Amino acid sequence: MRAAVLLLVVLPCLLHGADAAARWTKKPLFQAIFSFGDSYADTGNYVILEGDRPFNYSPYGESFGRPTGRASDGLLVIDYVAKGVDLPLVPPYLDKGQNFSEGANFAVIGARALDQAYFLEQNVSSPAPMMNSSLGVQLRWFEELKPSLCNNATKGGCRDYLGRSLFVLGEFGGNDYLAFLAAKGVEQTTRAYVPVVIDAIAAGAEVSIQN
Ligand SMILES: *[C@@H]1O[C@H](CO)[C@@H](O)[C@H](O)[C@H]1NC(C)=O
Ligand SMILES: *[C@@H]1O[C@H](CO)[C@@H](O)[C@H](O)[C@H]1NC(C)=O
Ligand SMILES: *[C@@H]1O[C@H](CO)[C@@H](O)[C@H](O)[C@H]1NC(C)=O
Ligand SMILES: *[C@@H]1O[C@H](CO)[C@@H](O)[C@H](O)[C@H]1NC(C)=O
Repeated sequence: MRAAVLLLVVLPCLLHGADAAARWTKKPLFQAIFSFGDSYADTGNYVILEGDRPFNYSPYGESFGRPTGRASDGLLVIDYVAKGVDLPLVPPYLDKGQNFSEGANFAVIGARALDQAYFLEQNVSSPAPMMNSSLGVQLRWFEELKPSLCNNATKGGCRDYLGRSLFVLGEFGGNDYLAFLAAKGVEQTTRAYVPVVIDAIAAGAEVSIQN
C-alpha cells in the first residue's frame, strides 16, 4: 500500500522535475521513447494489426475527441510520460508512415509476455484470439527498426542515441495469466506458470537494458 502511494506521489514530481529541467536547459531529457507492453501502453498497433475493433469507436477516445486505437477514453500513462519529458506522443510502430526518430511504441492490446508457441505447447488456446504480438515479437520489431534508427542518429552515433532514450517495458503478464487461469485453473497457474511468465518479463527487461 505504502509503495503504491509513493509511486503516485513520486511520478508526477519526477515528470514535473524533468519538464522543468528540459525547459531550463532547452534540451530534452531523452532523445526518444521506446515502449513495449499491452493495452496499458498501446497507442494504436492493435487496430492496425487486427482491423475494425471496438477501440475504433466511442466511448474509446471520447475525452480525447476521437478514437485513437487506445483502450482508453483519453490518454494512457505512456502519453503522459512522453508529455512530461517534452517528446511527441509515442507513435505506434505498425503505422509505417511515421517518423520514429523520437520514439516508437511496440505495445499491442492483449499482448502476452510468452510467445504463441508456448501456449500451444501447453495446450492453451483460449481465450481466443491468440496474437503474434508477444514481448519477444515486440523486441524483434525493435531490432528491425534499429538499423534505420541508428542510420539516422547524428552526432554521438547509435550508442549515444539509444543510451539517451527512455525504454518503457510494461505492463506484461496480465494476458498470460488470464489464458492460463481459464485453461488450467488457479493452482496450476500459480505453481507452474507464474514463474515462467516472470522469467520471460525479466529476460525482456535484460534485452532492453542492453540496448
Ligand atoms: C524526423 O524527426 C526528427 C526529429 O523531430 C527530425 O529531425 C527529422 O528531420 C525527421 N525526419 C523526417 C524524414 O521527417
Ligand atoms: C530515417 O530517415 C529516413 C529518411 O529521412 C526516413 O525515411 C526514416 O523514416 C527514418 N527512420 C526512422 C526510424 O525514423
Ligand atoms: C497436450 O495435449 C496432447 C494431446 O492430448 C498431450 O499429448 C500432451 O501431453 C499435452 N501437453 C501438455 C503440456 O499438457
Ligand atoms: C510472428 O512475428 C514475427 C516477427 O514479425 C515473425 O518473425 C514470426 O514468423 C511470426 N510468427 C508467427 C507464428 O506468425
